[in-house]
Amino acid sequence: MTQLEETTSLDLGVTPLAGYIGAEIGGVDLRGPLDPATVDAIRNALHRYKVIFFRDQEIGHAEQIAFARLFGKVTPAHPHEENPPEGFPEILPIDSRRYETNLGRKRTSYDSSWHTDVTALINPPAASILRAHILPPFGGDTAWTNLVAAYENLPKDLRDFVDRLDIKHRFHTRAAAGSQRDRKVREANLVSYHPAVRVHPETGERALFVSPGFTRGAREIRGLTQTQSERILALLWEEATRTEYTVRFRWAPGSVAFWDNRATAHLAISDAGHLGHDRVLYRVTLEGDVPRGVDGRESEQVSGEPFHGS
Ligand code: SIN
Repeated sequence: MTQLEETTSLDLGVTPLAGYIGAEIGGVDLRGPLDPATVDAIRNALHRYKVIFFRDQEIGHAEQIAFARLFGKVTPAHPHEENPPEGFPEILPIDSRRYETNLGRKRTSYDSSWHTDVTALINPPAASILRAHILPPFGGDTAWTNLVAAYENLPKDLRDFVDRLDIKHRFHTRAAAGSQRDRKVREANLVSYHPAVRVHPETGERALFVSPGFTRGAREIRGLTQTQSERILALLWEEATRTEYTVRFRWAPGSVAFWDNRATAHLAISDAGHLGHDRVLYRVTLEGDVPRGVDGRESEQVSGEPFHGS
């Protein structure tokens, strides 16, 4: 796998957590101020480890947003979010208490499938930053997978084949029919084709960009029949989420995860909702670029609008 150069001599206190992905960063107080060398070192660690974790951070919404702004434009909470915390339109609450109200049962998270954030958009977020607030006494972990490793470890003939594929990503609603959320998802109707292999605009690495949570709804590879698409997608989903490419993170209050959404997918492990415990985390996302395939071709928006930040 490509080993990215350390472009700074700054010692961040990086502890790798798994063989392909994930590192804990020590000695950084996200309340800041952070000097440019520290910001560069964090960015390099993100590109290298794909998801990085900080522990025991005493930050609130404002500090989380300010930290995110050091790395790019911060988007509104989510294309479908209608009730962000007052005064913080950038914050997406991932709150089991909301799911209990809206769905009638507690869920660990809003989604329980492997996905890369909002890939139904023509410009999915470049990165996400998630902060833990309230956690179950056990369970409710999150796992991430390294999509660069998943691509690079495919046999060459299979890499050459998937390089040319475009996959449809659709935001499908799980909300109750007729609910406000259901209406909003249908109105926005986010659908895009993305190259199955995207080239990272900053590192040049190639990633298997198959986001199961968003490609399962469409089950379509451009130019193939539905049966052919489903079989090839099943193979690619399996490769993208092989256990050896993953890291699993045990949250504690004040933990922060920062992931490169152009090189990873993640899974909220749904093992705590049925126990009735609360789980509350807050997410911000950075504006993303339009993906490009290995031959430079761009993704194509079928419907919906690009999602911009400020
Ligand atoms: C997310 O998908 O952004 C949230 C993951 C989680 O709830 O653990």
